[in-house]
Amino acid sequence: MAAYISPLYKNVKLNLSIASKNHYSPDLFKKNLDKHHLMRDIYNRIVGNKTVANGIVAKSRRRRNEKMKKKLKQALGNWVEGERFWDREKDVELFIERIEQGAHLLLVAQRRMGKTSLMREVARQLKDRYLCVFVDLQKALNASDAIAELSIRLKPHKSLWQKTKEVFKNAFDRAEKIEIKDVAVTLRSGLDAGNWAVKGDRLFQILAASEKPVLLLFDEVPIMVNRLLKGDDFRITPKRRLAADEFMSWLRKNSIEHQGNIRIVLSGSIGFEPILRQARLSETINNFSSFELKPWDQKTAVACLNALSNEYGVQFQQDAAARMVRLLGSCIPHHVQMFFTYVREKCKRRRRMKFFPDEVDEVYQTEMLSTRGHVDLMHYEERLKLVLGPEVLPLALEMLTETAVMGSLSREALEAFQKAYTFKEQSAAEAQQEILRVLEHDGYLELRVKDYVFGSRLIRDWWRKRYGSFHIPILERGV
Ligand SMILES: Nc1ncnc2c1ncn2[C@@H]1O[C@H](COP(=O)(O)OP(=O)(O)OP(=O)(O)O)[C@@H](O)[C@H]1O
Ligand SMILES: [Mg+2]
Repeated sequence: MAAYISPLYKNVKLNLSIASKNHYSPDLFKKNLDKHHLMRDIYNRIVGNKTVANGIVAKSRRRRNEKMKKKLKQALGNWVEGERFWDREKDVELFIERIEQGAHLLLVAQRRMGKTSLMREVARQLKDRYLCVFVDLQKALNASDAIAELSIRLKPHKSLWQKTKEVFKNAFDRAEKIEIKDVAVTLRSGLDAGNWAVKGDRLFQILAASEKPVLLLFDEVPIMVNRLLKGDDFRITPKRRLAADEFMSWLRKNSIEHQGNIRIVLSGSIGFEPILRQARLSETINNFSSFELKPWDQKTAVACLNALSNEYGVQFQQDAAARMVRLLGSCIPHHVQMFFTYVREKCKRRRRMKFFPDEVDEVYQTEMLSTRGHVDLMHYEERLKLVLGPEVLPLALEMLTETAVMGSLSREALEAFQKAYTFKEQSAAEAQQEILRVLEHDGYLELRVKDYVFGSRLIRDWWRKRYGSFHIPILERGV
């Protein structure tokens, strides 16, 4: 029977694709639809099996419709949620499951993987059952700033806000006298190095007494702790270490005291573990369990590109979307979205929305790896500098460039680098260990058998393009 079905089925598909290519011009579509009904009739008469034929046609139509239907809007700001949030269904489900169990979580993933988006999306989905409070500590310089930030996030929750104002009564009374209108400024004026912990404890007590269970999501905590620890000159002093310890210990104490009523999630754009390790404070988060967010698989990334193309009228021809995904290597959501943005812009500029596989490389080379692409990826370098500091950074950059140029970073190359560098307060071997921990944790490099390689092809190509030109491989330098 298959011998009969296959040519007919091909014809049906051909007609449907003619209709789709012609944007469903009503007349043409009807004509093709008639043809397709006619063919199904003929087929039914030949094999006399209406159910099979209908099933095949319906399946092909369903598949096509599904592909046509799914649409996705591009990210507007830094993160996405709701209708702009693609897939991650299993991640969201597992994440919520852990929250329901009452766990405190440490959300870990490489840069731009969608950590903030996942937290926002989970908060959106849980908003009826939980009181969700999202606190971004990116700008917090110290613990007082962090408590002020937490307090201001309670403002939209009326019952909690009344109680929060009580905690800051003195500050509000004072502000009234001198007519300070800005609530955030007022809150901050009520906090100092001597009282932030007590006021912070009271906020936790208020939250714990809330009718609904509380989900407290802290983003960019590692950035703040890193700042507390190293200041502007990247030096860990006993005083700074104490400040980081006080904040982390305060958070730990409250997480234990209110377990069951308050769930805390910590995340950030730089890895927390390497920083806490530098501060010898790793134990402060040992009651948080890790939740790891991985890149999309290729199928999910292609489906995302198709959904974006459905929304914005880009017509991927043949396997153009799959080719884009293959070029990226690792399907980091931000890179998938970036690639689509460049393809869409190209199509719009030239007023032709069909995009062919043989155009993929060109967009990759001229846009993704261009100065514009670099601006996005410069973020990576900035964050690296933030964690490693200026003394160690040049060695890290060289190790990355060596990997990008040579394709991998061997044991021999690592040893040669140790001989080429000296540092004031640590040996080159120690510095290199720390660098490797950060590079692995933040997703630049991964260990394959004995050598380190880039996990993402895009980051490798970008690195090679930016730094590769004048690089002499370390083993050729005669060190
Ligand atoms: N689920 C998703 N659906 C669609 N796009 C996504 C998704 N997750 C992430 N993105 C894309 O990646 C970008 C970065 O997302 P997000 O800020 O959540 O990542 P992040 O891991 O928090 O980044 P960083 O490491 O800089 O903190 C978003 O602007 C969006 O373009
Ligand atoms: Mg983030």
